[in-house]
Amino acid sequence: MFSYWLADYGCIVADQTINNYLIENFPSGKLSRYLIYMIKKYFRMCAVLFSGLLAWVLSVLSASGQGININYDEEKVGSHSLPDLLRLPDSTVVTTAEQWTSQGRPATLQLFKTHVYGELPDKLPGMHFKVRNENKNALGGLATRKQVTIYFTQGADGPSMEVLLYIPNKVNGPVPAFVGLNFYGNQSIHPDKGIALSTRWINNSPEGIVNNKATEASRGLQASRWPVEELLKKGFALVTAYYGDLEPDHSEGWQSGIRTSLKTELNLEEDKWGAIGAWAWGLSRIMDYLEKEKRINPKQVALTGHSRIGKAALWAAANDTRFALVVSNESGEGGAALARRNYGETIAQLNRSFPHWFSPAYKNYNQQPEKLPVDQHQLLALIAPRPLYVSSAIEDKWADPQGEFLSAFYAEPVYKLFNKKGLGALEMPAVEKPVGETIRYHIRNGKHDIMAYDWQQHLAFAQKHFKLKINAKP
Ligand code: GCU
Repeated sequence: MFSYWLADYGCIVADQTINNYLIENFPSGKLSRYLIYMIKKYFRMCAVLFSGLLAWVLSVLSASGQGININYDEEKVGSHSLPDLLRLPDSTVVTTAEQWTSQGRPATLQLFKTHVYGELPDKLPGMHFKVRNENKNALGGLATRKQVTIYFTQGADGPSMEVLLYIPNKVNGPVPAFVGLNFYGNQSIHPDKGIALSTRWINNSPEGIVNNKATEASRGLQASRWPVEELLKKGFALVTAYYGDLEPDHSEGWQSGIRTSLKTELNLEEDKWGAIGAWAWGLSRIMDYLEKEKRINPKQVALTGHSRIGKAALWAAANDTRFALVVSNESGEGGAALARRNYGETIAQLNRSFPHWFSPAYKNYNQQPEKLPVDQHQLLALIAPRPLYVSSAIEDKWADPQGEFLSAFYAEPVYKLFNKKGLGALEMPAVEKPVGETIRYHIRNGKHDIMAYDWQQHLAFAQKHFKLKINAKP
């Protein structure tokens, strides 16, 4: 950008200088006009070539600059000492589950609010829901599809989010559910034509998101990440909403998201929290709705999230204990991975690429993660005693799989206070050999994604912890 501006500026200055020179020295005739034309053309060509060269040099410099900070060598991670999750800021040492609940939990949450994610406000009194449509014969009769608008304030034209639910038909009683935000609008999770196309701003995608709007071609764009039928057949409902309903995911997104539109009602300035906080807030509003949805068991709501949405899911579950089970899939830096480990993405890199995600205070730790009063194992400990599944992928080095594993490992002392067995493994398990009980972990083959293997493990984990007896109708 800068180099193009420079080239343009160079052209204008060169044009004026050449014009003046030629007009003064060759005052008349065709020759002077021709000379002016040729010389200007030559200069313009040079400026364009120069700008291209400059852009290339700048991009190489910036890439190598980023490379300097990114370490993928386990030998170079160095040693780090993690904050003791049972020692509170006033030096009290937590020794019982009750003490954790009454003192440890609130003190730890406060540290994360102050230094990492910012505030997380409560719901507003005027919040209400509107069922847009309901189809009892969706997906060939397998499910009831419901589309519900959650209005965050009293008015019917105030800020809102669109929630999509698939509830299994052939199961008696209130059912367990998996809840998670999606990246490209509700229509992206399944080709089902009955899903309303999102009308919000969405990141462009060659598969149907054009000029930041969803088109018909985006139906099912992320279906591989949402095995809807498999969930339904196992007796789970699936509940999802587009994360951009809360805040569009770009650095100016806060201006049209809830951090601005609800600023007065929530009595919270936009820089007192970040996009991750806004997404987490939306997850709790979905939970508010689920508490009123008769076909869903609100005591068996599992929260899942992949990557940046995994960061938001962990933050939501840390605050909101109504989420009975939590899955963090490759949430990486600012999610499950330890911040003090210099491997893959770092706080500095995260804040540089996504300045809108966290509280402004988090940027103070860009160059000094060791000064952060918390580390991410404490975020995982805030989920205790609820079942927690952390998953990584072998090729997803950016998210630091080892750092995700260690974080789960170091969260254990809080689970132990509740007599829960955590990982029970001292070392990273082999690929696709999950370990652990109340905290479970796996690393699978392949890239950064949420895949069938991940879901199979997460579903089995939820079935076990929810002690599901699926009561299918004949
Ligand atoms: C980027 C970002 C990660 C994030 C990921 C994602 O890679 O650096 O922190 O988790 O996007 O959301 O897919």
